[in-house]
Amino acid sequence: MPECRVAIYPGSFDPITNGHLDLIARASKQFDKLVVAALRHDSKPPAFTLEERLTMVAEAVAPFPNVSVDSFDGLLVDFAREKGAKLILRGIRAVSDYEYELQMALMNRKLAPELETVFMLPSETYSYLSSRLVKEVARHGGDVDALVPPRVAERLRAMAPETL
Ligand code: PNS
Repeated sequence: MPECRVAIYPGSFDPITNGHLDLIARASKQFDKLVVAALRHDSKPPAFTLEERLTMVAEAVAPFPNVSVDSFDGLLVDFAREKGAKLILRGIRAVSDYEYELQMALMNRKLAPELETVFMLPSETYSYLSSRLVKEVARHGGDVDALVPPRVAERLRAMAPETL
């Protein structure tokens, strides 16, 4: 039997956007299993708690039966090994993403040569979209309905602007 192709899609997902979701929809067709993995702690505190971020991801990926949600702390490569994944998925929106992604992919390769980073392109419709900008728009009362899944837009509207 051919080996099950498990990919990890790591990120902050603070919050998940339609760009992330577009990539997840594409990747769900390419891999047997996709694990969307939210980083628990980062140097900068997230606007949404881990539980909120995981709930929003879980709601958004519900239509994809081979996509699951998890969280990790520490090194991504350790988490990937723990999950038996050989692939790390990252999205590249524009050339400006490339340098950071290259650095991360090569560092991960140094740490775990058996893992491969795979890059996919989200739809050009979302090439300008980032969680940071979504929060900025929401903070100033702008319309985020076209940028994030409906439940995320609701949560953004419910947040105190100064926390975004
Ligand atoms: O959505 P983001 O913030 O661009 O995701 C960045 C993320 C979570 C993929 C990256 O910060 C990460 O993998 N952090 C875990 C720590 C780690 O493994 N660092 C070494 C690789 S450079």
